[in-house]
Amino acid sequence: MTRPRLYSGMQPSADSLQIGNYIGALLQWRDLQEAYEAFFSVVDLHALTQPNDPAELRAKTRRTAAQYIAAGIEPSKSTLYVQSHVAAHAQLQWVLATLTGFGEAGRMTQFKDKSQRYGADATNVGLFTYPVLMAADILLYQTDIVPVGDDQKQHVELTRDLAERFNARYGKAFTVPTPVIQKETARIYDLQNPTAKMSKSAESDAGVLWLLDDPAVSAKKVMRAVTDSEGSVRYDRENKPGVSNLLVIYAALTGRQIPSIEDEYAGRGYGDFKKGLAEVVVGEFGPVRQRALELLDDPAELDRLLAANAAKADEVAEATLADVYDKVGLLRRV
Ligand code: TRP
Repeated sequence: MTRPRLYSGMQPSADSLQIGNYIGALLQWRDLQEAYEAFFSVVDLHALTQPNDPAELRAKTRRTAAQYIAAGIEPSKSTLYVQSHVAAHAQLQWVLATLTGFGEAGRMTQFKDKSQRYGADATNVGLFTYPVLMAADILLYQTDIVPVGDDQKQHVELTRDLAERFNARYGKAFTVPTPVIQKETARIYDLQNPTAKMSKSAESDAGVLWLLDDPAVSAKKVMRAVTDSEGSVRYDRENKPGVSNLLVIYAALTGRQIPSIEDEYAGRGYGDFKKGLAEVVVGEFGPVRQRALELLDDPAELDRLLAANAAKADEVAEATLADVYDKVGLLRRV
C-alpha cells in the first residue's frame, strides 16, 4: 500500500524551537506521519538568506533536527533530513528559476516585506529566489500535501503554478501539491504581548516558551503570563487575548476541548489555572527536552542518522531530477 506524500520543513533559525512551532507544526507532523509518507527537512539552505555565524548555523541545524526527533518525528517512519545533504534541491531550483517570472517572484509578500525592511542593497538575490527553492523542496518528492502556516500559503500557490507550468510545457514530471493551512486554534501568541504572534525574535524572552527551557523557567513564564482583570477563565480572543491564548495552549497540549477546561476552572482564579497549565507544559516539555539533550550529547550518532535519512531522500529526489533534466533537454551524462 502506498501512502500519499507529505512534505514540510523548518528553518534552523534558533537554538530552541518554541511552543508555537511545537503546537503549530510538530504535533501535527507527528500525527500526520502515520497516514502519510512524510518528508521533513531542516532547511539550512534557506537559512543562508539571512546573516549567520557558520558555527552557529551548524549547531542550530543539529539542534533543530534533534528537537524534531524528540517531539516524536520518527526517523524510521518518516524521512527526516538536512536540506543541503540532498544536492538535487539546489539543482532543481535552478531549472524552476528559469520558469519563474521576475514579476511573479516580485509579488511574493514575504519578499516584499523583507526587502522593504532591509532596503534593496541589503537584500540578497537568495531572498528573492527563496520561494523557488521552496518549490524545489516540495516538487522533488511528488508531494501531495504541504502543511504550513498561513504566511507560507502564497509560496505553496507559486509551487503549484510552477508544477502546472512545467507539466504543461514539458510533460508531466510533478505532482501538483495542496497546501494544508494550520488552524487558527493552533496559532500561539506571546505570553507578555498576547496580540502578537509568539516569535523567536520577540522583544522580551518572558513571552516565549522555548522547548528547551529549563522546566522551572517554563513554569515561571506561564505563572507570569499577562491576563486581564476579569478573573474568569473564558475563551474570548477579542477581549481576553491573554487568557484565550493560555486556553489554546492548554487544549493543544492535553488534546482536550476548550469548554471542558473552562468548566474545570469555573469560579477559580487565574492563579489556579496558570498552575494547572504550568504542570501541563512542564509535563509535556520535560521529556521532549530530555530526549533532545540526549540526542545532542552524541552528535556523531545524530549525524549518522541524518545521513541515512538523506540517502532515503536522495533516492526519490534524484529520480525526479533526472526526469526533469531529460524533459528540458539537458544532455544526459553517460
Ligand atoms: N519557508 C518555510 C518557512 O519559513 C520553510 C520551508 C522551506 C518549507 N521549504 C519548505 C515549508 C517546503 C514547507 C515545504 O516556514
